[in-house]
Amino acid sequence: MEPKTYKRYTVTAALPYANGPKHLGHLAGAYIPADLYVRYTRLQKRDVVFVCGSDEHGTAIANQAMKEHTTPREIIDKYHELNKQSFEQMGISFDIYHRTSDPLHHETARDFFTNLNDKHIFVEKEEKQYYDEHAKAFLADRYIIGTCPNCGNENAYGDQCEKCGSSLSPEELINPRSTLSGNKPVLKPTKHWYLPLDKYEDWLKEWILKGHAKDWRATVYGQCKSWLDGGLHPRAVTRDLDWGIKVPVQGADGKVLYVWFDAPIGYISATKQWAIDNNKDWELYWKDEDTKLVHFIGKDNIVFHCIVFPVMLKVHGDFILPDNVPANEFMNLEGDKMSTSRGWSVEMHEYLEDLPGKIDELRYYLTAIAPETSDSEFTWKDYQARVNNELVAILGNFVNRVMILMHKFYDGKVQATTATINFTDENLSKEIGGFYDELQANFEGYKFRQAQQTMMEIARLGNRYLTEKEPWKTIKTDPDSAKDALHNCLILIGHLATCLQPFLPGTAKKIFGMLNLPNDQIFFDEEFVLANGHQLNTPSLLFEKIEDDLIARQVQKLIDKKAAIEGPAVVEEMPVAPAKENIIFDQFAAMDIRVGTILTAEKVAKTKKLMKLTIDTGIDQRTVVSGIAEHFEPEGIIGQQVSILVNLEPREIKGILSQGMILMAENAEGKLNFVSPVSWMPNGSGVR
Ligand code: 2FM
Ligand code: ZN
Repeated sequence: MEPKTYKRYTVTAALPYANGPKHLGHLAGAYIPADLYVRYTRLQKRDVVFVCGSDEHGTAIANQAMKEHTTPREIIDKYHELNKQSFEQMGISFDIYHRTSDPLHHETARDFFTNLNDKHIFVEKEEKQYYDEHAKAFLADRYIIGTCPNCGNENAYGDQCEKCGSSLSPEELINPRSTLSGNKPVLKPTKHWYLPLDKYEDWLKEWILKGHAKDWRATVYGQCKSWLDGGLHPRAVTRDLDWGIKVPVQGADGKVLYVWFDAPIGYISATKQWAIDNNKDWELYWKDEDTKLVHFIGKDNIVFHCIVFPVMLKVHGDFILPDNVPANEFMNLEGDKMSTSRGWSVEMHEYLEDLPGKIDELRYYLTAIAPETSDSEFTWKDYQARVNNELVAILGNFVNRVMILMHKFYDGKVQATTATINFTDENLSKEIGGFYDELQANFEGYKFRQAQQTMMEIARLGNRYLTEKEPWKTIKTDPDSAKDALHNCLILIGHLATCLQPFLPGTAKKIFGMLNLPNDQIFFDEEFVLANGHQLNTPSLLFEKIEDDLIARQVQKLIDKKAAIEGPAVVEEMPVAPAKENIIFDQFAAMDIRVGTILTAEKVAKTKKLMKLTIDTGIDQRTVVSGIAEHFEPEGIIGQQVSILVNLEPREIKGILSQGMILMAENAEGKLNFVSPVSWMPNGSGVR
């Protein structure tokens, strides 16, 4: 069967909570892939609207307001602006970045609720829920803490124990306490509106399990299947809270729509606002069967986008359903889960401040390690390696070599050897044709990692071709052959820039600028003309090498941020070995032992035990070879504070000059542990 062709596309990216800055994990999870898909779709001259905005309701916002001793309104205004700006600077090309606090959204969400209510879709139920008599408020699950019935953790939340990971309901907690007042909450009856998901189980099974077994990602399909196999239950779509959209029925005072009911409707209201601003008909983008709806999200949002929201759309009756929900897994950071609250994160605005102008570098790296099929790992070292070895050494190098030669040999004037603008080399034509096909197939299949690799193949091909043709030699022996080779290279660069556009929009523009072509956009099927005599512009370097100290500073910043929030890293107990013979004080005092931090770690090739570490000693950054490779994974010890003997005579181990020794605790079984300060200390602090 031929794949269906669509007249238009509605692409959504998860509305981030406006409760704080968003980090690079969010960017990689939903926004970069969505942007790649949309930019690609635009290059195909397809009609697409790309919507997003701030999710401004729910306990996430109310919580943050409490934390910052301010109002929810102040919180959403502050973080809406910050996140909107950061996305813009990262080149995320939303057609609109809306807000769920907007009156148009309130109206849209209320109408949606009323429509379903009028159709008697909801089940109204009165149930007992925890109520804080001091704070005079019903408590959201997150506002109740108590002892976990499974592991005894005394600070488990009403919905989940973060220690053992079990999901809980508030009534299961032993000794529940309200986080608002610290008091014991009481159970009090309250009425809510439930969406009976169980009634739509058969339909969902048909639609997802039968209909999307092949085209949805295995991870997404798998999560849906396990929800459906486990059986669905009615879900409350209202809450007792004063921050949110008032429930539009009589007798619902003090109740608002559940944030997960109104948030996805935010995609619709954003489209409405965009349609008003651009003189379009929003309904075509949500109700026409010829529109393809695609939701880009992170894996924690799968159930809402694949089960709850589709049921809402379905029962409303006149909406289309998502064609695909290409959810990403998570991206970890330097060996640990990314988390803003624990300080283990790189926020978008921090990156923009610390590495100004390096947008395409980040877009490239985040796509190269996109967590499309499983969780992935961001490390600063790997970021540096990808930029230096791929963007600088392959892509930048090819463009730069060709441009320099064109200016050196021909004053930057195009030397077309034939009247056509096509390659004079059939092989090149064939290869490029193949790349376009591959690229499109990968985009259509939401395989952006692979698509980017295909794009890089053009640069690789260019480098190979240039090296093989050696125009710097043939310019003397066979000038026509030099002209021909360099002209083919220029055409390759034009194709490279065309294909680069979705991934590295800034770089594509720069290249079009150097080629002196119109640099807004070149469509995939468009021919760019590099006619004989066309004047090229002066070349400039596309990428700069990332130096070690920039990377070290970023790692250090991460460590400091976490230390400022978490404080102590407790050192485990060690069995006591019999004492050695006494030494005199001077022997001890001669040892200069400092607190240091591991900045980088890698296994030493062809050895089992050795790890090469870079340590910030406060005095300098130095290399130490340590016999710990059988005990630790390199990614797991980045940021670890250690004690290091800094005045040990340097010695060469396996060809590496090791300058110092890391102090390790070793128990009777040979288990190793770092000797580190119990709470964070500046590097260079003396150990006495
Ligand atoms: O998980 C989140 O950050 C939610 N704010 C995502 C909402 S997506 C959509 F439904 F709006
Ligand atoms: Zn537990």
